[in-house]
Amino acid sequence: MRPNALFPPDLRDLCLEIGFGGGEHLARQAELHPETGFLGCDLFTNGIASLVRHIDERRLENVRIADVEATLLLAALPDACIGRVFLLFPDPWPKRRHHKRRFVQPAALDALARVLADDAEFRFATDHSPYARWTLALVLAHEAFAWPAETADDWRRRPPDWPETRYEAAAVAGGDRPVYFAFRRLPRGTE
Ligand SMILES: C[S@@+](CC[C@H](N)C(=O)[O-])C[C@H]1O[C@@H](n2cnc3c(N)ncnc32)[C@H](O)[C@@H]1O
Repeated sequence: MRPNALFPPDLRDLCLEIGFGGGEHLARQAELHPETGFLGCDLFTNGIASLVRHIDERRLENVRIADVEATLLLAALPDACIGRVFLLFPDPWPKRRHHKRRFVQPAALDALARVLADDAEFRFATDHSPYARWTLALVLAHEAFAWPAETADDWRRRPPDWPETRYEAAAVAGGDRPVYFAFRRLPRGTE
């Protein structure tokens, strides 16, 4: 797959959102960055319809939708083609016997590390503290990623260029305090 061929030739960067849900975050990012191509991946039909509505209302020309399981899309992408990946409020699968269904697994991190360009960002958010700890442990154990956070605000506060998602709004309204991780893909050869 040549993802750049899906977009106009003057594309500056390519971003991927895995599990975009209602698509509010993806549509807002695409609106803010018209020079960047956005690939959205989700299987949820109502969510895809919602994203299509956002695209239509805002007349966005820089979004493409992949209605496939994210690991299949990652496997089809070339090396180092993505400048930023968003994985926001993924299903937490809280029961121990279901942990293997969580998206963040060593193999998924290997796949992300392969498709991310040097110095690219991997943004992850959750309101489920066991999944936050799980993700932090696996990402920090992976040689291709670093976590440049310095103060608690770096993960407790959503950065201004990070639009709120629908799931996040519901979690916050329910009294939860999400965490926001921005990991960096280390340059190849320095891992
Ligand atoms: C809890 S919802 C969060 C949606 C959105 N990110 C938000 O914050 O509002 C998780 C989303 O991930 C999608 N999803 C789950 N597993 C997926 C997979 N393997 N590939 C693509 N999408 C997936 C679901 O269909 C759902 O829309």
